[in-house]
Amino acid sequence: MNKPKDIKINIREMTLNDINVIKKIEYETYKKKDEPIDFYNEIKNHFSQYVIAEIIDIKKEITNIIGFAGIWIFQGETHIAQIAVAKKWQRKNIGNQLLKHCTALAKEYGAQHIVLEVHEKNITSNKFFSANNFIEIKKKKNYYKNKDGTYSDAIIMKKILFKR
Ligand SMILES: CC(C)(COP(=O)(O)OP(=O)(O)OC[C@H]1O[C@@H](n2cnc3c(N)ncnc32)[C@H](O)[C@@H]1OP(=O)(O)O)[C@@H](O)C(=O)NCCC(=O)NCCS
Repeated sequence: MNKPKDIKINIREMTLNDINVIKKIEYETYKKKDEPIDFYNEIKNHFSQYVIAEIIDIKKEITNIIGFAGIWIFQGETHIAQIAVAKKWQRKNIGNQLLKHCTALAKEYGAQHIVLEVHEKNITSNKFFSANNFIEIKKKKNYYKNKDGTYSDAIIMKKILFKR
């Protein structure tokens, strides 16, 4: 096992070359999703910004992608479209770093707040966003259709970046 000083986490813009690896993380973390993410279009779309987290082993000169996040930017508002960390790397502060990076991007674009929606049963995400000072502002009743035919609410969460 390497000492932590040999390991570096880097967050950078996603490129087309990253898609194959990112798809594996998407499958592992989001496999219950009905529609796979169209990363090609997201990378090309001017309204979206996708980033990846990679771990760099300086000693072994190995780089591995371990997470990704995507935001959509509209006038004054940023929407977190996706955020996921490979299972093996969860609960190691990688999600926090991705979110921090997305927040900095949103600020650069002049967004006053960030919004997102979470499945009511996605307890981990609810806790993750609450820990990052997002607050629930409303619910979209029966917004998600589950695989078993039942419906679940979407929880809309918001974080204010700048006060007018
Ligand atoms: C949500 C997700 C991105 C969080 O990434 P992560 O790297 O594990 O999160 P972090 O290690 O940065 O956690 C930051 C804080 O969030 C909270 N948190 C994260 N995972 C948690 C869990 N399983 N249970 C309780 N709290 C949790 C904690 O407060 C944590 O701080 P702590 O570890 O000091 O207690 C990750 O769980 C994931 O990929 N989930 C699957 C995909 C998904 O559902 N994405 C969101 C859809 S909107």
